[in-house]
Amino acid sequence: MILVTGGAGYIGSQFVRHYTRCRPTEKVVVIDSLVEGHVEALEGLSNVHLEQMDIGDYEGVRNLLTKHSIDAVVHFAAFCYVGESQENPGKYYQNNVSGSINLFRAMEDCLVRKLVFSSSCATYGLPLSVPINEKHPQNPISIYGQTKLLVEKILSGFSDACDWSFTALRYFNAAGADRSGMIGESHDPETHIIPLALKVALGTKDVLQVYGEDYDTPDGTCVRDYIHVEDLAAAHLLALEKLSTQKGGQFLNLGTAYGASVKEIIDVCEQVSGRKINHVFAPRRSGDPPVLVADASKANAYLGWSPKHNLRSIIETAWAWQTQKRY
Ligand SMILES: NC(=O)c1ccc[n+]([C@@H]2O[C@H](COP(=O)([O-])OP(=O)(O)OC[C@H]3O[C@@H](n4cnc5c(N)ncnc54)[C@H](O)[C@@H]3O)[C@@H](O)[C@H]2O)c1
Repeated sequence: MILVTGGAGYIGSQFVRHYTRCRPTEKVVVIDSLVEGHVEALEGLSNVHLEQMDIGDYEGVRNLLTKHSIDAVVHFAAFCYVGESQENPGKYYQNNVSGSINLFRAMEDCLVRKLVFSSSCATYGLPLSVPINEKHPQNPISIYGQTKLLVEKILSGFSDACDWSFTALRYFNAAGADRSGMIGESHDPETHIIPLALKVALGTKDVLQVYGEDYDTPDGTCVRDYIHVEDLAAAHLLALEKLSTQKGGQFLNLGTAYGASVKEIIDVCEQVSGRKINHVFAPRRSGDPPVLVADASKANAYLGWSPKHNLRSIIETAWAWQTQKRY
């Protein structure tokens, strides 16, 4: 049986749903503190057992691993706000790094040595070249990015010393919602551009701030690589399956290799919603690179994976979710 940490969050709940669709007879145990997650995201999944628990609870995690005979872990639990990580580094080191160490200690004690980890393109920092492949130097410019890089290094240590098999998936910008319309993105505060733009279309937000219009990009606004959460979920299951034969660690970018500018996002959001998106230009934010696009060819080859969604279907599913949001 597998254990999913952070499985009531945005991407974790999408993975749990995908897993239960692909393996309807198998059970899943989810640990989530519900600090950011939503119980509703797992509603209707009869094979899923949710345990409200913090990954920092060493005894609790150990007991669960043993009680449910867990043989692999998919680890999403973390705090994810880059801005907040700069204001409160201790909160991020404690939760993302110490919490992960607790989880890994409990796993090693129970001889659970297979793990898929949610890493991030934030581990690369300012790109020296794009598209970014896995050999690009990792110099994170935020505390959040540092926490993800530290966990990658700790996992390499467990792999070298204790023979763990793991895959760290470095996602670019997760976006979109489940095709059922049952689950989707619900962060408070919301910081991601697509839900923010769609909230303006819906009238629940007055205006979208666009940070910078003088970048060296085709239309002057920042370019990012948006990857649908269903595509991320599919890659996690493939990575998990590979662990049964994999030795050591793998590091894989997950993105589409297509860069969309902020102006393009606004255009497609207007087309899909059929509404005008009121936006204003604000000064650049420090630390925002002009372009972040993945070279995901390693994941394509290693996992036999390629994204099924494009920008339009990302925004269509996100819009369907925003108009009937349940939580
Ligand atoms: N959203 C993105 O674009 C993106 C990009 C790259 C990487 N990631 C990574 O993907 C993972 C999931 O991101 P998300 O967008 O779904 O975030 P999210 O906040 O929606 O989900 C994280 C979940 O983890 C839970 N959690 C946090 N700390 C916990 C702890 N100590 N113990 C138990 N549960 C805890 C939260 O309650 C939440 O349900 C994170 O590790 C994040 O860093 C996200």
